[in-house]
Parts: sequence; structure tokens; C-alpha cells
Amino acid sequence: MSYTTALHGGATDDILKSLHKQFTIDDQTLFKITTTFLSEISEGLSNYGRAMAMIPTFVKGVPDGSETGTFLALDLGGTNLRVCEVTLQGDQTFSLRQQKYKVSETLKTGEVTTLFDYLADSVDAFLTESSTPSKEPSSLIGSDPYAAVNQDTPYLPLALTFSFPVEQSALDSGVLLTWTKGFSAKNAVGKDVVKLLQDAFDRKHIHVKCVALVNDTVGALLSRAYTSGGCILGAIFGTGTNGAYVEEVSKITKLGDSAAAAAGGEMIVNTEWGAFNNSRSALPTTPYDNKVDRESINPRFQAFEKFISGMYLGEIARNVILSLIDAAPKPILFGGRSSDQLNKQWGLDTALLSEIEEAWEGLGQFSLAPGSVEVTEVEKLRRIQGVLAKRLELSPPDISLADADIVRQACTLIASRAARLSATAVAAILVHTGRARLWDQGEQSSAGLKDEGKRIGVGVDGSLVEFYPNFQTKLRASLRMLIGPEVESRVDIGMAKDGSGVGAALCALVAQRQSQAARTHGAYAYDHEETTIQVRTEVSYLSSLSS
Ligand code: GLC
Repeated sequence: MSYTTALHGGATDDILKSLHKQFTIDDQTLFKITTTFLSEISEGLSNYGRAMAMIPTFVKGVPDGSETGTFLALDLGGTNLRVCEVTLQGDQTFSLRQQKYKVSETLKTGEVTTLFDYLADSVDAFLTESSTPSKEPSSLIGSDPYAAVNQDTPYLPLALTFSFPVEQSALDSGVLLTWTKGFSAKNAVGKDVVKLLQDAFDRKHIHVKCVALVNDTVGALLSRAYTSGGCILGAIFGTGTNGAYVEEVSKITKLGDSAAAAAGGEMIVNTEWGAFNNSRSALPTTPYDNKVDRESINPRFQAFEKFISGMYLGEIARNVILSLIDAAPKPILFGGRSSDQLNKQWGLDTALLSEIEEAWEGLGQFSLAPGSVEVTEVEKLRRIQGVLAKRLELSPPDISLADADIVRQACTLIASRAARLSATAVAAILVHTGRARLWDQGEQSSAGLKDEGKRIGVGVDGSLVEFYPNFQTKLRASLRMLIGPEVESRVDIGMAKDGSGVGAALCALVAQRQSQAARTHGAYAYDHEETTIQVRTEVSYLSSLSS
């Protein structure tokens, strides 16, 4: 019997077993979820108005790393707002200068014009900073691309990375379908976000023009393609979760007989998979998930995201911990004591789960110096006791070693479920695009698959996938189970660092070429349909995936 098993007995043991049962998704269920994913992908490609929106982005190819230029990008994600200046060097590398600004709860939930005024002010502050003489030589003013633009147009072009579901009608326009990740700014849903931003610039006489709109997943895909030479899926596992992939236009049947459909080829689709299975017909839900959902600002929406992403994992853990503190007939945790921090909604950050797992695994700040002696389980649990006392403001004598172990097990269960579910999304895209087959009927051959024998690039970003101990390893293990070891071993999952900035820069480049072409052809005024065609023509510099 291991030390940790000996810590628990009777009622605790039963409760732990029940937690394991509720949070462990078996392989068969994982297959079923992936199959449901496949049908929701098809539904979304053929119909507008589905929860998993499968949004055509009007980005018609991926870069190959040879692109050059300096661009301004504004990135509104979840936690922070970033303004950056990105220089694409043309050799798969880039340099980036950025400034982060905090987005307060008041801004997230207030009037939308106040939020967009703040975005515009942040860009203004960044530009003012950049033009002060003490700043680096790469300051915006005087850098080539902007000088060129300034000669014939009185504005700086900027691309907006807006990481929320936006139904795009062109590269530079799209209406907000719904808010996610705790945002609920008023009078925004149904409005064109590019116009909202442009109006804010204009109100403040800031000479910046928003020329392109991009989701962070599209940014991840483009930037990974730029730095690695090829990528078919961009995915975010951070505050929220979502993926964008390269699709054949002929499969986006909801485009009907539009110009975009007639143009054919490939287009990046933003899946908005955070809203997968809002009906929860396939996702096995625990009472803790139900509570998180019910108390969220968007109950019954973003079901998949609520099982997976950084915004919610801490809150699920908080609910589990509270239920153990309140357990009858006897408390299971902390002698029945809680803390203000634990009692507060959102009071437990996913970063804490990560820290607890690092303490147990000996990773991050708890890594051992090479050659040091292995740490015993008791010492690992003491570390966890320390983390809990500090972060949850619990009194140290109230945290037993058994408590530390229970909390550790709960964190692992919650995060492992998130990693396993994440694998279903990746598997579904690979199967849908013909690059993999599901192994639910037993071993499958790879013969005849798209990209047979080739590397399959996947660009990822977000705090979970970057920092959460073993998240990627667990995701990969489930992916292997779902699609078999041969295809899984060819999937290159790589960080799309600064994807939101670099991806936006690449979109601004597309937009710039498009407007240059419009000028060359004397076509200054164009409607959205024409814009789409311009995009198609002008992105031919982007390498086609199928080539
Ligand atoms: C949410 C947003 C989505 C975004 C994701 C990751 O799911 O709806 O647009 O890509 O978070 O940031």
C-alpha cells in the first residue's frame, strides 16, 4: 500500500472513488464524443446559426515564412489587452515589441463604447510611447512600412485579434455572435467589431485604420505556419479553448452560391469548438460542472469550454473542495474550515491547480537540482500544504497531509479530463480533414489518408498547454488512443508563440496587398463580395496547403 493510500480510509476512500468515477472519461465515451464532434462540424459547415459556428474567415491560405513587413496589431483575448508592433523578417523569424494593458471587470461588463474607447486609447498610448526619442530604433514612426503608408494615406493600418465568436463577412468585417470568457459588454452582440473599433479611433482623432480582423486560433495557425513552414490547425487551450483549421471551400456548403464559394480553393475556418455539444448529449457532466455552468454569465453556452479551459478548471476544483469541506456526516477536508478566498466565486485560479501538480511532480519552481536525492511522498505533500496555506489563506494546522493528497488528486482528475477532452477536438479535425481514421472499430490502416507519411503541423497557444504539468502528454496519449500511433506520431504539436500578434500581422499584410491591388486597378470602393475576391487573388503569395 502506498503512503498516500494509507492516508485515507472509510468515508474518504469512498468519496475519492466516487470523484474518480465522475471525472474519468473512459475510452468508449471519448470515441462517442469525437463522433458527435464530427457531426457537429458538418452541421456547422452547412448551416448558419449553429452553436459551434464553424465560421469562414476569408483567410484563404497559410504563409510559408517568406513574408516581410512591420505591422501594428491589437489583441483582445481574455485576461489582457496587448498592442504590438510585429516585424516579419521573411526568414521564418519575427521580432515583436508589445505593451500589455489590463482589462478590468468594469470594462468587460460595461457599455461597449467604453471598452472600445479603452482599446483605442491603448493603441494611442503605445504609439505615443513608440515615438518618444528614448525608445528603440524600431519605433513605429520612421519605420519603413508606415512611412510608405503615410505618404499616400493618412493612417496606420492595424489588424485586430478579437478572440470571441465573430461571424465574418470579409477579412475586415464581422459581427459579434455572443460574448464568451466572462465578457458581457452591453450593446455589442450583432455589431460589427471592426466598425466599433474604427468609430472609437475616429471619435478620438487617432489616425489608425483597422484593416483586418482575426481570431486568436487563426493567428496561432498562421504564425505556426510562418515559423515552421506548415500548419493545418491552430488551437488555443488557455482562458478559453477553440480551434481553426484549413478547410476545402467546397465543404463549407453554407456559403451557398456566394463569390467566396465560387472562388473555391481552401479557407481557414474558425470552429468555435468551445460551444461544442451545448446540449451535453455526449459530454458526461458532474454536479460540479452543473454548478459552474449555472452560476456563469452564460449558462448552457460554451459547454465544451467549461470542461476544458483555464477560466473554469479552478472554479470546478473550488466546487469539489467546498463539497468535501461540507461533507456529511463528517467533513473530509480541512476539518470543515474554509476561507474567504475559497468561498468566493472564481476564488481559485487554475494557476493554483498547476502549482499543486508541480509541487507533486517536482516541476517548475519545485524542480530538483541535477543529482539531488528523490523527494519522498511526505515531502511532496508538505509542499502542497505550503501552497494551499499560502494561496487559499487557510490556516496551516487545518491542512493535514491527507487533505493535501485529496486536493492533489482532485486537481489531477479535473486537468486530466480536460486534456482527454481536448484530444477529441484535435482528433475530430484530423478525421474530418481526411488525415486520420477513428480506431473505435480496432486498428485502422493509414493507406489513402491525406498527407500520408507526412508531418501534420498543429500550432497551439494558451496557459494550459504551455504551463500545466503534463497537459500535452495526456492530450497526446488520448489522441493516440483515438487515431492510432502511426498518425499521432506524425502530428507535430508546437507552440505558436505570440500567435495573436504574428497572425494579425500576416492578416494585415494580406489586407495591405489587397488595398494596393485595389489602388493599382483603380478600384477604391468595393463591397464585401469584391473584397473577398481581392483577398482570394492577393493571398496567392501564401503557399497552398495542398501543394
Ligand atoms: C473563446 C472564444 C474564441 C476564442 C477562444 C480562445 O472560446 O469564443 O473565439 O478563440 O475563447 O481564446
